[in-house]
Amino acid sequence: MEKMKVNPYDVQGEVNYDRLISEFGIKSIDEKLLKRIEKIAGEVHPYLRREIFFAHRDLEKLLDSYEKGEKFFLYTGCGPSGPIHLGHYSIWSFVKWLQDKFDIELWFQFTDDEKFLYKNMTYDEIQEWTKENMKDVIAMGFNPKKTHFLIDTKHAGIIYPEAIKVAKKITFSTIRASFGFTDSNNIGSIFYTAMQTVPCFLPNILNNKNEYCLIPLGVDQDPHFRISRDVVGKLGHKKPVIMHAKFMSPLSGTTGKSSSSGNKTILMTDDAKTVKKKINKYAFSGGKETVEEHRKKGGDIEVDVACQWLKYFENDDKKLTEIYDKYSKGELLSGEVKAILIEKINKILSEHQKRRKNADKQFDKYLFKN
Ligand code: TRP
Repeated sequence: MEKMKVNPYDVQGEVNYDRLISEFGIKSIDEKLLKRIEKIAGEVHPYLRREIFFAHRDLEKLLDSYEKGEKFFLYTGCGPSGPIHLGHYSIWSFVKWLQDKFDIELWFQFTDDEKFLYKNMTYDEIQEWTKENMKDVIAMGFNPKKTHFLIDTKHAGIIYPEAIKVAKKITFSTIRASFGFTDSNNIGSIFYTAMQTVPCFLPNILNNKNEYCLIPLGVDQDPHFRISRDVVGKLGHKKPVIMHAKFMSPLSGTTGKSSSSGNKTILMTDDAKTVKKKINKYAFSGGKETVEEHRKKGGDIEVDVACQWLKYFENDDKKLTEIYDKYSKGELLSGEVKAILIEKINKILSEHQKRRKNADKQFDKYLFKN
């Protein structure tokens, strides 16, 4: 079996999330924490109940301070080097839930510098993706009055003075060990973690506050923020609080990370026909060889991608359990579960695409102005 590797620039092998919890030194989001969240927010998001957001750093501390009447702000980001897919969408829809529930500010970083430095793409190509990706983030429906986009190269004037303070406290040996760098990595990529660290505390500097920062992210981003937490503490800021999401599996199954390439996932710009085709053709099935055998023995929900993806899109626990139950008994066929999934996804996409159409007219509303 391929060795498990999880960092922002490389995800390989079967991802074992229990092992990640111990290797990363993060904590699982347990029953007790879910109860606390429910008490404060009035409900728990299905992604929490279903362990899609499965781990955290210091979430208890943030809840303690919230219960004392202190606010917090949200920070997340997007590396613009390709189209947005359902994996991004699911994380951001959780971020939107948090913003709506708590009525708080969201700082959204577009790391065009990062993608230029790390990818084999031109500066102009990255700028095009930045615009395309901003449209998708706007289409998520974040509160425009409380959402602030930072584009690293465009907001360098406010980010850079803080980034150098961060960078001065990180050694090359830390970066090399965290990301597996060698002598041939370019020097911009060595500096980059400093840029991604700044929004953890920049809002507090701008607004003269000392609020907690909560960062919902895909777990592969944790290595950056492990470094950030160490440094911002030394700079006199609160350490950011993190909530980690599992990866949405690729259509082909396994527990890797979905990417925008080929037929591995569904893009936010895919039309209904493409969605249907991709899922019917590529979603790994946990069904049996023949209908007769499936009816007799039932399907395997754990490996069936349509069943697993429904965790993201069927919010009703009762309905989901019913589907799982019927599928494992053989009453539902793989094709039938796929049909349910296709309908759910196409509904989400058609609404998203409507909102995305005029999103570029709203750039100005979302881009941060000092
Ligand atoms: N590095 C992230 C990416 O490649 C983008 C990003 C910047 C980010 N800041 C973040 C992601 C904060 C999560 C949280 O996609």
